[in-house]
Amino acid sequence: MLRFILNNEGIATDQPSGMTVLDFVRYHKNLKGTKIGCREGDCGACTVLVGELIDGMVRYRSMTSCLMPLANAAGKHIVTIEGINPTDGSLTPVQQAMVDESGTQCGFCTVGFVMSLTGFCLGTPTRSPVSSDQAISSIDGNICRCTGYKSIERAACRIGEQLPVNIAQYIPEYFSDIALRLQGLGSDDSRPETSNLRSLVGGGTDLYVQRHDQMSASDPTPLLYDDRLRSIRNTDEHIEIGGSATVTDLLESPVMHAIFPHLYKHLKLVSSTPIRNMATLAGNFVNASPIGDMTVWFLALDAEIELMPGTQAPSPASQPRTINLKDLYLGYKQLAKQPDEIISKVRFKKPASGFKFNFEKVCKRTYLDIATVNTAISLTYSPPYEGGVAAASADGVVLSYVHVAAGGVAPIPLYLKRTSEFLRGKEITEETIAAANEIIQAEISPISDVRGTEQYKRLLIRQLFRAHFVELFGT
Ligand SMILES: Cc1cc2nc3c(=O)[nH]c(=O)nc-3n(C[C@H](O)[C@H](O)[C@H](O)COP(=O)(O)OP(=O)(O)OC[C@H]3O[C@@H](n4cnc5c(N)ncnc54)[C@H](O)[C@@H]3O)c2cc1C
Ligand code: FES
Ligand code: FES
Repeated sequence: MLRFILNNEGIATDQPSGMTVLDFVRYHKNLKGTKIGCREGDCGACTVLVGELIDGMVRYRSMTSCLMPLANAAGKHIVTIEGINPTDGSLTPVQQAMVDESGTQCGFCTVGFVMSLTGFCLGTPTRSPVSSDQAISSIDGNICRCTGYKSIERAACRIGEQLPVNIAQYIPEYFSDIALRLQGLGSDDSRPETSNLRSLVGGGTDLYVQRHDQMSASDPTPLLYDDRLRSIRNTDEHIEIGGSATVTDLLESPVMHAIFPHLYKHLKLVSSTPIRNMATLAGNFVNASPIGDMTVWFLALDAEIELMPGTQAPSPASQPRTINLKDLYLGYKQLAKQPDEIISKVRFKKPASGFKFNFEKVCKRTYLDIATVNTAISLTYSPPYEGGVAAASADGVVLSYVHVAAGGVAPIPLYLKRTSEFLRGKEITEETIAAANEIIQAEISPISDVRGTEQYKRLLIRQLFRAHFVELFGT
């Protein structure tokens, strides 16, 4: 039996835990405010808020309900538009801003925008001023076919200008009891029991696009909210990240910000706010897409992964094993892991002084698109610049440790082994970059497909590799 709170109603259901939250709210609870557009996470018409109890407080994040299994709703507060509508028939400040700025025409997309913006308001700390860009970014996963967006952007800016405010104006009174009610649900009894035959699901953002019907009728093993798989820690030697950490968890992590000064700029290129709120690292690795952004990112950190034994052949002797992420990929979608082995941790060595990292991605659209080609590089160099700030020129800079990875240029997300080895100990010069680029061209094997021809991808990786050095050293 799955237990959660839907708006103001306690739910206990024995529907398949793989059924999407979208289908449950529309067809089992007759809440038709949440719309069905693409069923692929692209349009945002189905956006709901998911409240999770953390340290006695409820944290709300927007998610696309078309990709979210009921299993991930267990123990949570699920909020649809019906759950934020004021009972007296008035409008919330978010709804009012949409009306005042003419942000709605046919109305099909409007609920999704309102839910995303409400999630943004709920997630804004009371003392942080908010920029228009942040408010507009919160609707990066919502598509409108009528308005042309400018009116919706004005509404978002207006909401941003009003923040931070007393959040009670944005939500009905019953929200004040939700933390207590979620505590009452407990965690153990609200999760389905594990069995041997279930597929693993993280956020569901790949699985539900690829096999919606099969997943909906199943009872998958949910990992997104598994406490063992979520922390982001600074250990003595490593940065250690739980396999179920989401892209948003990385974005909000002080540990990650301390290492990656351009974290926000880079991760904004990955999917959209509601998808980042669901998309896990392990899901990205195991999906094994040759263009997986987080996979390329962590390949370039020379990361290793810890695999927990699965449930299908449990044995007391079963121990977690650790492999290098680059060794996970054997061929197109072929992995060096058992189907039921769980990626519990991802680790990379703590950066030494002189560490730099860059990520580049080219796609047909800047945002909410998968890459044609992506690439990441991590390196350390000497002599380190004062304060770690890139100099105007890289003259005299010698690379000591380098790892380069690229996506969209091979059947697997590719660690560029020979290129990385070549660069170690080399001074950064035009000649070094040109020579490394020739090695890259020999290491890759792109194919022509809908995202571009082989020649185009070869050109892209050449340019993007060059861009790493422009970004990092201005050269
Ligand atoms: C609209 C949209 C936009 C997207 N944009 C991007 C993008 O810009 N860049 C990008 O890289 N990807 C993108 N994706 C793909 C997807 O969001 C990512 O690959 C995501 O990281 C997958 O994680 P998940 O938790 O949702 O995986 P799921 O769908 O839950 O699972 C994917 C696979 O991983 C397995 N799995 C999940 N967790 C574990 C675990 N802990 N251990 C072992 N196996 C596990 C599952 O069994 C399944 O085989 C997009 C997807 C959508 C729908
Ligand atoms: S229906 Fe389009 S994102 Fe869910
Ligand atoms: S108002 Fe019609 S799709 Fe947005």
